[in-house]
Amino acid sequence: MIKAVRGTRDLLPPDTELWNFVERKVREVFARYNYHEIRTPVFESTELFSRGVGEETDIVSKEMFTWEDKARAASEKSLSLTLRPENTAGVVRAYIEHELGRSGLLQKLYYIGPQFRRERPQKGRYRQFYQIGAEIIGPSSAGSELPIRDAEVLDLLTALLDAVGLEGWTLYLNSVGCLNCRPAYNQALREALVGVKDQLCGDCQRRAETNPLRVLDCKVPADQPIIEGLPKIADYLDEGCRTHFAQVRALLDTLAVPYQVNERMVRGLDYYTRTTFEFTHGELGAQSAVLGGGRYDGLSEQLGGAKAPGIGFAIGEDRLVLALQAQLARALVPLKAFVIPVGAGMNPHALKLAKELRAGGVPVDVSDESFRLKKSFETAEKLGAIYAILVGENEVRAGAFAVKNLKSGEQTTVARAELLPYLQN
Ligand code: HAM
Repeated sequence: MIKAVRGTRDLLPPDTELWNFVERKVREVFARYNYHEIRTPVFESTELFSRGVGEETDIVSKEMFTWEDKARAASEKSLSLTLRPENTAGVVRAYIEHELGRSGLLQKLYYIGPQFRRERPQKGRYRQFYQIGAEIIGPSSAGSELPIRDAEVLDLLTALLDAVGLEGWTLYLNSVGCLNCRPAYNQALREALVGVKDQLCGDCQRRAETNPLRVLDCKVPADQPIIEGLPKIADYLDEGCRTHFAQVRALLDTLAVPYQVNERMVRGLDYYTRTTFEFTHGELGAQSAVLGGGRYDGLSEQLGGAKAPGIGFAIGEDRLVLALQAQLARALVPLKAFVIPVGAGMNPHALKLAKELRAGGVPVDVSDESFRLKKSFETAEKLGAIYAILVGENEVRAGAFAVKNLKSGEQTTVARAELLPYLQN
């Protein structure tokens, strides 16, 4: 049998209904915030990601699906191509290529589509996954660099999560400084790492040399106490970055967007400057980040374009759907009991009992006296009922019913007057 490749999955009905619901809702919200859709290719030149996302990031150094695309004619060159691991680099490439900055206006662009990373698959982490993302980018004269943009993006995110009905998220916020102040912080980190490097994991030992900021991303438990003791970026922000961060926070307070500052959150991509953020959700287990994003004021120049500051985010749609499903499952009221009339003439008694229980607020369903007992029990299990209640001639006469717990298999007799409190417990 040929199966789907490791880390990829088929999305089937009824799950696809929820995916479509989410996409419909976010498109409505994007329209209200004056965002418009962009669709970029699923594969790009490898160089776009090594220059954009950063050579030393996990994404570029270990996770990309890259291949050498052979020339098919003498007029063609062979190329190194990569399935996009994220969409920001592609959007900024398109912004430069189509000179979208020429209008002098901000470009507010959103995308929904598959991304690819060769990560170790687990719940909430796939090799083909989907992102719902957005970018605001434009010349500085359009206000692309201003704190109001950061606040608006975070406000948009709360509206998106509200529209799909996600509850219980936490927003973590940080500033990672800029090209002006980060070198001093990197230097401080390097110096602090000299003495403790040997006690860290292999990846961190390498990062300590090449890109010390990445050490803060490390998830290895044994490394955490050492990382906690490293210098904090907040102490190294220059005046401009400090003011920007303070203004973003003040705007969030005005909009009543709750957040927590997390100084260790530097994010796994190299293009970030100033504001970075992540929303986590408790239902997601180890892969708790439902979305992430931040500002990237230097990315356009890094990719050979004119200065075009920007900020954006990407929601992991797979994770959003997982969190919504968990939330829905918790909200569903389970069927408490399946009332089974046993023998001819028992339907009226069963229906009457069901009516009493339903009036008491208990979700109940009823079988039919013509069904074999086995069929009624099978139906009860398929419906997910917790109890089966048998209504036969003897039970009606005695005013007490056989109640079977379908989960434990236990069976007891419960007097009619006791039945409602028994099921309510
Ligand atoms: P990212 O943090 O790498 O950022 O990914 C954003 C979100 O995509 C994550 O928070 C997570 O929900 C989801 N995600 C990432 N990898 C996987 C995976 N293997 N399986 C399932 N879900 C995953 C970016 O991609 C940036 N481009 C975001 C951005 C836009 N920054 C500025 N603009």
